[in-house]
Amino acid sequence: MSVEIKRVKYLPELRKVAELADEIWHECFVGIISQGQIDYMVEKFQSLPAMTDQIDLQGYSYFAVYDDGELCGYTAVKPEEDSRFFLSKLYLRKDKRGRGIASKMLERVFREAQVYGKSSVYLTVNKHNCHAIDVYEKVGFRKVDEAVTDIGSGYVMDDFIMEYTL
Ligand SMILES: CC(C)(COP(=O)(O)OP(=O)(O)OC[C@H]1O[C@@H](n2cnc3c(N)ncnc32)[C@H](O)[C@@H]1OP(=O)(O)O)[C@@H](O)C(=O)NCCC(=O)NCCS
Repeated sequence: MSVEIKRVKYLPELRKVAELADEIWHECFVGIISQGQIDYMVEKFQSLPAMTDQIDLQGYSYFAVYDDGELCGYTAVKPEEDSRFFLSKLYLRKDKRGRGIASKMLERVFREAQVYGKSSVYLTVNKHNCHAIDVYEKVGFRKVDEAVTDIGSGYVMDDFIMEYTL
């Protein structure tokens, strides 16, 4: 296993990340949110136009994860105006989970946050996404709040907010 985590700089690579996001979201959120909500959220947040907009206009960076040269995951982050760093996305293809790759991804996120001089990293996670919550808690995130966010078309995100102190 040779894991490489690289900032996504070019459109063809971002397109591949969008294809991977589509695959992962349609697998990992089954049983957590409805099929309709998965389709809606992928289109709204993880389609190529949505991700291009996030990078060009909203201050997000995407990082692609390769294992032995194969794209298998991604993460997205954004520095906030205050002292916090937002971990927006952390996704690995199913066959690559359980091998410690997420720990490497999170180390990369923490390093990036430190480059920006931030003092904490926060994220939102669906309250029923038990495995992700376990992983975040193992790594040192703590639940600090919860939020129900209206994302349109009758859908809401029902999340915990978790924070890691750098
Ligand atoms: C969330 C996700 C990225 C985590 O990746 P993973 O491969 O399952 O996690 P890892 O194997 O790298 O484990 C990370 C750490 O958590 C620990 N861990 C894993 N499962 C755990 C559990 N059930 N309880 C406690 N600790 C656990 C690991 O031991 C590891 O710690 P270590 O490096 O100190 O040994 C992955 O499960 C995923 O992509 N899930 C679907 C998408 C998703 O839900 N993303 C989050 C949206 S908010």
